[in-house]
Amino acid sequence: MFEQIQRVPGDAILGLIEAFNKDTNPNKVDLGVGVYRDAKGNTPVMRAVKEAEALLLKNETTKTYIGSHGDPRYGKVILPLIFGADSPVLDAGRASATQSPGGTGALRLAADFIKSQLPGKGIWVSDPTWPNHLGIFEAAGLKLGKYPYVDAENRLDFAGMLAALKEIPVGDVVVLHACCHNPSGFDLSQEQWRQVLAVVQERELLPLVDFAYQGFGEGLDEDAFGVRLLAENLDEVLITSSCSKNFGIYSERTGAMIAVARNNEQMENVRSQMAIVARENYSNPPSHGGAIVTEILESAELAAQWRSELTEMRDRINGLRQDFVAALAPHGLAEKYACVGEQRGMFSYTGLAPEQVDRLRDEFGIYMVRSGRANVAGFSTENLEYLTKAIAAVN
Ligand code: LMR
Repeated sequence: MFEQIQRVPGDAILGLIEAFNKDTNPNKVDLGVGVYRDAKGNTPVMRAVKEAEALLLKNETTKTYIGSHGDPRYGKVILPLIFGADSPVLDAGRASATQSPGGTGALRLAADFIKSQLPGKGIWVSDPTWPNHLGIFEAAGLKLGKYPYVDAENRLDFAGMLAALKEIPVGDVVVLHACCHNPSGFDLSQEQWRQVLAVVQERELLPLVDFAYQGFGEGLDEDAFGVRLLAENLDEVLITSSCSKNFGIYSERTGAMIAVARNNEQMENVRSQMAIVARENYSNPPSHGGAIVTEILESAELAAQWRSELTEMRDRINGLRQDFVAALAPHGLAEKYACVGEQRGMFSYTGLAPEQVDRLRDEFGIYMVRSGRANVAGFSTENLEYLTKAIAAVN
């Protein structure tokens, strides 16, 4: 039977990890997969995480199953992080969290829930979007559509986005990036979020908000502006959250599928369905990452330490954005790449064409996604000169 199976190319983002590791160029630079890097190019374990793990090692008494929704303590700490401590959404008991294997697992839960419980609904993603959105939603059997997000001049195409949202069939699902849009780095202003809300209300759309980078844009609360606006003004919202980046626990697979419903009773109905979806996919989520997050957020001291480490990471990335543009000035390219200084989060859509990206890889050992998406955390004071010279060479 297997003789008919075709070999396919590996994932375009994850494949970069292997290609980079194989490269023997001593000056190579990894701007590929979205993981935070420090000045030395490492992805360290956060100090708050290490401390939480030490406590867990000492106090953990069992490794038994934690249930399809995950640890209820995790749900209790994650909801206020998303909605704010005194959120009317939480006061009304309208929100439920289902712990998931990373943000990807949460997206698959959302997709399977939509497919089985809201049959016939199309799902609309930004163009461009994280490529795995397409894979996940198609694998779940959803009908996909796209709305414009970035224009040909590599700018946020908000007018195009809004016009397209107005044409989406009433009641369909629209996927929005809460902050740090992946891959472009272009985020909506508060005013633009309000306009999106108005269209969502008018078209009775169901927003599915992907919230994978909370804390990497402007701050934990600032980045939640859109999510909170939608949840407080709409009856129904789905949110997929991830702790991979903001807690740096990528390999622990820790996220949450959060459903907001009209009232507590409908929330419990949705929640019961979410448990079935989780059970049929992987039964119970892995527990360690959720336990780390819980340990940190339940302790005022560890939470403060974590927030300050996250601030350090965000400030470093935002500083590197400015340094990158400044380092391009001697090459006469500061204006051309000024967008990198304005975008937010881990990624920048640089505007580099696929052929330029190929040359950067082949001639300079610089790795990024062929769409021209660069992981800004891969910039460093040491590699900026090499990097900007290489970019000048392919321009
Ligand atoms: C990325 O976009 O690089 C990250 O979200 C990692 C991934 O799984 O693709």
